[in-house]
Amino acid sequence: MNVKDRVVLITGSSSGIGWETALAFAERGSLLAIAARSLNKLNELSELIRGKGGTCFIVPVDVTDSESVASMANKVLKHYGRIDVLVNNAGFGVYAPILEADMKDIQDMMDVNYLGVVRCIQAIVPHMVGQKMGHVVNVASMAGFVAAPTHGGYAATKFAVIGLSEALREEVREYGIKVTTINPGPVDTPFFEKAYSEPIPKVAKRFMRKPEEVAQAIVRAVEEEIPQVMVPAGMAPIVKFKALMPTLFARGTGRLYRMEKKQPD
Ligand SMILES: NC(=O)c1ccc[n+]([C@@H]2O[C@H](COP(=O)([O-])OP(=O)(O)OC[C@H]3O[C@@H](n4cnc5c(N)ncnc54)[C@H](OP(=O)(O)O)[C@@H]3O)[C@@H](O)[C@H]2O)c1
Repeated sequence: MNVKDRVVLITGSSSGIGWETALAFAERGSLLAIAARSLNKLNELSELIRGKGGTCFIVPVDVTDSESVASMANKVLKHYGRIDVLVNNAGFGVYAPILEADMKDIQDMMDVNYLGVVRCIQAIVPHMVGQKMGHVVNVASMAGFVAAPTHGGYAATKFAVIGLSEALREEVREYGIKVTTINPGPVDTPFFEKAYSEPIPKVAKRFMRKPEEVAQAIVRAVEEEIPQVMVPAGMAPIVKFKALMPTLFARGTGRLYRMEKKQPD
């Protein structure tokens, strides 16, 4: 897709990956609709985009609320008349061993990261079906392929997003709609302020990438219609290794976990 003059709606664009993705699409001449709960941040981003000559429409949303999602879709459709690209990016993580995890955190993560994606798809993809074109980008994670210790609650939401995306991709193919999953490893955003109650483990810090890199990968995936992207691409062999040798892989992640916690192996 040539994204110039295409309407791009991004959830979770008040921060991190969503914020950078909005800037990256704006640089290509797309017409932005930015959505999240923090209106002050959205106003800041909108000013930045407009200051650079871009086009931006702000729409508040809480993706856990079906009425809020329906209202977001209606407002964007009323403003621009269409939605060409939907980036389902809103999400958060709270890492904890399952035996210690707060059930509310587990439920809330599922509500935002998985059900939020379902709500947005059900509100917007029918319009893409009517247009006979569109692209849905679901920001999943490496955690959607590999569930390291303490990631059980979060990883489950991202495994779910990958399963949903696989099914949707074939269901909407005949309408000219593409579906992409973006699967980043650790990315340097405010995500980690909530994810860890303890300092970020060394292994996560070592692999940490910039949100701008993920944003560029998202734009490229839409332009080149790529179904699945690992960020960085160098992470792809990890997923292949796990598929080939799951037991060995699990032992390795377990050993790393115990080393970080300084527990005997
Ligand atoms: N950072 C990483 O290492 C990493 C790695 C892989 C995948 N991811 C995924 O990338 C996505 C973006 O994360 P990030 O790293 O950019 O984190 P972030 O900087 O914390 O941004 C999260 C965004 O999600 C929005 N959000 C959260 N709950 C929401 C709700 N109920 N309704 C609407 N918006 C909501 C937040 O906006 P408001 O609070 O203003 O609503 C914010 O804009 C998430 O899906 C995350 O799981 C992150």
